[in-house]
Amino acid sequence: MTNVFPKKVKMVEVGPRDGLQNEKNFVPIEVKVDLINRLSEAGFRNIEAASFVSPKWIPQMAGSDQVMKDIKRKPKVIYSALTPNLQGYEAALAAQANEIVIFSAASEAFAQKNINCSIAESIQRFIPVVQTAKRDGIFVRASISCSLGCPYQGPVEPHEVVAVVQQMLDLGCDEIDIADTIGIGTALQVKRVYEAIFRIAPSKIFSGHFHDTYGQALTNIYAALEMGVEIFHSSVAGLGGCPYAKGATGNVATEDVLYLLHGLGIETGVDLEAVVSIGQFISEAIGKPNQSRVGKALLNQ
Ligand code: HMG
Ligand code: MG
Repeated sequence: MTNVFPKKVKMVEVGPRDGLQNEKNFVPIEVKVDLINRLSEAGFRNIEAASFVSPKWIPQMAGSDQVMKDIKRKPKVIYSALTPNLQGYEAALAAQANEIVIFSAASEAFAQKNINCSIAESIQRFIPVVQTAKRDGIFVRASISCSLGCPYQGPVEPHEVVAVVQQMLDLGCDEIDIADTIGIGTALQVKRVYEAIFRIAPSKIFSGHFHDTYGQALTNIYAALEMGVEIFHSSVAGLGGCPYAKGATGNVATEDVLYLLHGLGIETGVDLEAVVSIGQFISEAIGKPNQSRVGKALLNQ
């Protein structure tokens, strides 16, 4: 049997940001810090730790500067932060974020709801952010929401994703996340989107950021792996949801992704058992059921 899969993949743990941003009750700074420290101990080299957005829009992410200050930084671990504009970038830089994330959407309607501007306006807003980040030597990641469907617009076509990817490339972004914000996409659609974007840039700069609302995320990751994607995002215990995508559930659970990847003989550098106990820790801390199937199965053994 020929193995078409990569030898290793880069896992980006987004639980502390994407996973927690939608929690109604404020998760104490100490819990967020504890979560991030446990994740770095478990072997993650990329942790989305903070978000310097307007606290009026996302109250849960207030105090991101304190989180970044209090974490115990491990060498070689990249602690990234969302930055919707220059104000956010300056806060992220002051907080010593190693990587910034700018974010727009493949759907006009979602861009309006999430960042209060059109896609074109968001790109204009990102020009000084990316220019300054480049000057400061900060890695820039761009996230494209609703790449597989939009809660307001409905279907999203690959050419709409390609158009935004091209603009992110023109800005000078180093990595680009193909995000299924509402977890609605299916495997063939995933393949079509990557096929389209790989015509304009190398596969190694793209990630898969899949939410699991329709239970398709693992299948979509498998499809993306077959296409040659080598970077995946996930949230421990499947935490999360998007405040501007009603009904969307969390990211695919990290434990489930690790189980899949390790089963395929793909290295991640992350200790699954440690992540299972972190999943239980954070679920108990926020009083929510653990959404990871693998986590629950291993905890029940
Ligand atoms: P706006 O209201 O149009 O902006 O919001 P504004 O420039 O008019 O500013 C309004 C107020 O916000 C002002 O304060 C600014 O100072 C303040 P006031 O004068 O009223 O007191 N402000 C800020 N405060 C702190 N940090 C900042 C900042 N910027 C402005 N950076 C804005 C526009 C983009 C700021 C707003 O819409 C926003 O913050 N949106 C963020 C929404 C968000 O975080 N969504 C979730 C993250 S994206 C996501 O989860 C998707 C992803 O996971 C991929 C996927 O799954 O799809 C990445
Ligand atoms: Mg997301």
